[in-house]
Amino acid sequence: MYTEKVMDHFEHPRNVGEIDNPSGMGTVGNAKCGDIMRIYLDIDENQIIRDVKFKTFGCGAAVATSSMATEMVKGKSVQEAMAVTNMAVCEALDGLPPVKVHCSLLAEEAIHAALWDYAKKNGLEIEGLKKPKSDIGEEEVEEEY
Ligand code: FES
Repeated sequence: MYTEKVMDHFEHPRNVGEIDNPSGMGTVGNAKCGDIMRIYLDIDENQIIRDVKFKTFGCGAAVATSSMATEMVKGKSVQEAMAVTNMAVCEALDGLPPVKVHCSLLAEEAIHAALWDYAKKNGLEIEGLKKPKSDIGEEEVEEEY
């Protein structure tokens, strides 16, 4: 049912954790299942994503897609990170079962929410970035990945 890459990222998720004083942080919830994702970004003065971490109270597909998404945005500019859509992440994982595709939205939305936070703090505009609908703010994420 799951590809080898999905299983690998589920069993060995990359970039799990937190960043102290992040440049941007975004927390989103998936309306369909109630799962939660938080992304932390460390962005340098050239707008390059130096580091990224995530934690989620979510399903295996959410863990795998977040792990892959964080790998895909690390080292990229904030503008390049905008191209890391949930579909790009699904492709990089060689696909997800159709019923789990919605899970991959969490990572995309959390990255966008964290970029929004970064842009707001720095008075910047990131082309194509919209205010996150589902940023649930400061509520505690109860369980790490
Ligand atoms: Fe909730 Fe996958 S079932 S994110």
